[in-house]
Amino acid sequence: MAIRGLWGRPYLCLEPLLDLSTLPAVHEEVCLALTQAPLQYTGGSHRSMGITPPSREDDCLVDYAEVIAGMSDEQFETFRQLADDPASLDPARRRLSTFGEEREHPLSRRQMAWLKIRFGVYFPWKGYLELIPNRDWGDKANPEGKAFTGVARALLPKTIALVRSLPFLHIGRCNVMGLEAHDHGTVHRDGDPAEQTEPDHFITLCPSADKRLFVWDDDERREIPVEGRAIWFNDHDYHGVSAAPYFRYSIRVDGVFEPEFLERVARAAR
Ligand SMILES: [Fe+2]
Repeated sequence: MAIRGLWGRPYLCLEPLLDLSTLPAVHEEVCLALTQAPLQYTGGSHRSMGITPPSREDDCLVDYAEVIAGMSDEQFETFRQLADDPASLDPARRRLSTFGEEREHPLSRRQMAWLKIRFGVYFPWKGYLELIPNRDWGDKANPEGKAFTGVARALLPKTIALVRSLPFLHIGRCNVMGLEAHDHGTVHRDGDPAEQTEPDHFITLCPSADKRLFVWDDDERREIPVEGRAIWFNDHDYHGVSAAPYFRYSIRVDGVFEPEFLERVARAAR
């Protein structure tokens, strides 16, 4: 699958089109907040979700859905007890149930830790913090019933101000995606290009410009580095994050762009 890109480009750097004057202060705020906030894990099942190209499946290492499927009854009972609401998991329906992100039963923090420690599951993003939580991926541009969390409002006021200043009509999802040193973000795509009518609108802010994000051209088996402090790419293209010997993070904001901004982006890209 060749990359689709945006107006013929593999990604767009939006820095010239945005006021990022507060980004250094936001960086200081986020770094401090990540020491205070309860961090989550995300990723960890891209292969079983079927969103990884076969050429990069081995990069996923140990996938939690595969591990859960192979658990003994005794292990599954331990897994059940570690859920936030163990009564919601019925062992008799185990084979009919799905677990984890975008699935019927999201994982608790304790379940993720046990999957990592006991079974060696690889969670690429271990510095994950939801600022505007969103349950279903397909709902990420919809603002209804959503808000910045209390933790975000308490610890990240400058970040929220910057996010609110971005040229969105509305925002339906916002989070910090952090990777520990030496971890890599497994190659995947966020949607099926065959189902795409137009690219999803989002901005990824990386105050240090050190994320090592890349778009993956599966035809040419080539990583295309994505550079800049504010970027947009077609997330129905395969993408991943290279390992680096230090912690990195980005802030992703999903929503619907203001039409005037989209026009400016299109003009700049052509
Ligand atoms: Fe993604």
